[in-house]
Amino acid sequence: MNPAKNDPVLSVRDLAVSFETEQGRVRAVDGVSFDLPAGETLGLVGESGCGKSVTALSIMRLLPKPSGRIDAGHVHFDGLDLVGLPAERMQDIRGRRISMIFQEPMTALNPVHRIGHQLAEVFQLHFEALPAREVRSRCVQLLERVGIPAPEQRLREYPHQISGGMRQRVMIAMALAAEPDVLIADEPTTALDVTIQAQILALIADLQRSTGMSLVFITHDLGVIAEICDRVVVMYAGRVVESAPVTELFARPCHPYTRGLLASMPRLDLPPKARLTTIRGMVPDLGRMPPGCRFHNRCDETLPRCAEQPPQAVQVAPDHRVCCHRYNGGEEGVARETAP
Ligand SMILES: Nc1ncnc2c1ncn2[C@@H]1O[C@H](COP(=O)(O)OP(=O)(O)OP(=O)(O)O)[C@@H](O)[C@H]1O
Ligand SMILES: [Mg+2]
Repeated sequence: MNPAKNDPVLSVRDLAVSFETEQGRVRAVDGVSFDLPAGETLGLVGESGCGKSVTALSIMRLLPKPSGRIDAGHVHFDGLDLVGLPAERMQDIRGRRISMIFQEPMTALNPVHRIGHQLAEVFQLHFEALPAREVRSRCVQLLERVGIPAPEQRLREYPHQISGGMRQRVMIAMALAAEPDVLIADEPTTALDVTIQAQILALIADLQRSTGMSLVFITHDLGVIAEICDRVVVMYAGRVVESAPVTELFARPCHPYTRGLLASMPRLDLPPKARLTTIRGMVPDLGRMPPGCRFHNRCDETLPRCAEQPPQAVQVAPDHRVCCHRYNGGEEGVARETAP
């Protein structure tokens, strides 16, 4: 597959996902849409619980069964809609064409098998005809590529014998083994200390440059987004509230939630110990979403209709969309100065 630069390699449209819970069926993701242009990095950002991982697991068709379900929407990839794809065909896509680094590395590594065995399995699954000797040398090469010292020795070890940072590198190696078109990295560095975090980010960027893969990078850290992403999708309570190219989003954040996230980011240009702003209140419970805009009870800029109707997405600049009543026009609308 070789889409032209800027053509979307992956398009998520109106995705809605729910879970069966003790409170009944609840919507965790509600109408999420975005495009991932070929060769680019898209950041998916938002507070804990806003639906980032659920969106990723839906693309991979790995929602927990039987409680999780895709209720509506499409995931377009290489002329297919992954949402309705039969499970066997999805197996050819998963890992081979679209790969994922999971938020919890231990959930994806099997504790009872040596690292070499697990990595070799990925190669054998995706490149069936590869002779054993070739598989082994590719495993070594891949571990070297993700910066793992003494790879021959590592291949003989079990996951619990190596550090968290090394495990995350092994996960990255496994996700990259099949040379996917798209890599979804779900908070791949959150559990690691900062120096290792920086190394892993540099490594992912490096691999992306050399392989041309497209990347969905999930994080709640806007600093990381600024460093590695081309564009950003901001999620709040299961919905996309704003999306824009990264420089545009940082220069002209429109949604009050995005501005709140940016204001709560530590900055070097402020005096030391300057107080960081926080967004008041809490993310609403899935079973008790407020009517209207889901952010309105935490927002300092509400209009009367915010509590009544959900806002529609409005384009405020090329590629920059925001879902807020302040940009929906009407007599109180204030979007005019940013309109194209
Ligand atoms: N298996 C499940 N059953 C019920 N609810 C679930 C399940 N998995 C996720 N959820 C709910 O769906 C919502 C979105 O969860 P998700 O894991 O996508 O959040 P997230 O944005 O990835 O957060 P974090 O930054 O903490 O990883 C949350 O309210 C979560 O409690
Ligand atoms: Mg998550």
